[in-house]
Amino acid sequence: MFKIALDGPSGSGKSVMARAVAERLDFLYVDTGALYRAIGLYMFRNGIDINDAEAVSSNLSNIKLELSHSEEGQVVLLNGENVNKDIRLPEISMYASKVSAIPSVRDFLLNIQRETAKKNNVIMDGRDIGTVIFPDAQVKIFLFAKDEVRAMRRYKELVAKGIETTYEEVLSDMQKRDENDRTRAIAPAVPAEDAIMLDSSDLNIEETISTIIGIIDKKLK
Ligand code: DC
Repeated sequence: MFKIALDGPSGSGKSVMARAVAERLDFLYVDTGALYRAIGLYMFRNGIDINDAEAVSSNLSNIKLELSHSEEGQVVLLNGENVNKDIRLPEISMYASKVSAIPSVRDFLLNIQRETAKKNNVIMDGRDIGTVIFPDAQVKIFLFAKDEVRAMRRYKELVAKGIETTYEEVLSDMQKRDENDRTRAIAPAVPAEDAIMLDSSDLNIEETISTIIGIIDKKLK
């Protein structure tokens, strides 16, 4: 099976790109951040201290996570409940980032990610796809953009969803989360040595998609 690893920080445009590329190539798009978000949501709802790694670890046995994919995209089921909406709440972002630094959480999510690529050609977006989940991915891209550009994109997305916030708040939350993801001891959000670095700061969506398709086309040939 063909595996495309699309890693990078939040707001770099990974999900938009991965969705578009998956559609054009008829690959399955897997959003791995949604899995960490679902674990974060569980801890949030149950009042578990996410700074207490032991408490988080011991609660993992109460969690059953399932991923399904249809025409409408990916659905995450947390103990049977579709949590696609709730995992996008801004307060869940930091929960996801915090739990993602706990080794038992990463182990817990390893199989579900690897299994999806056994039966499908996939484009998977995340932070450690090219370094940990699929070091053997045929294509590895690390998508990034200037902080200010990423924060403005995220701010506009949130406002469009009717979520009240300010640009400054979005920028500061994003920088805190990036720092957390980049500096954690396990599977830090850094590019794989053999990843192609793509800066989307000055590219629009269409230009970024065609650059990515160009990179993949070269590998597919
Ligand atoms: O991509 P996202 O913003 O939905 O991800 C939420 C958090 O999950 C992010 O702050 C870091 C973590 N994450 C991770 O550690 N590894 C992944 N493969 C995907 C996400």
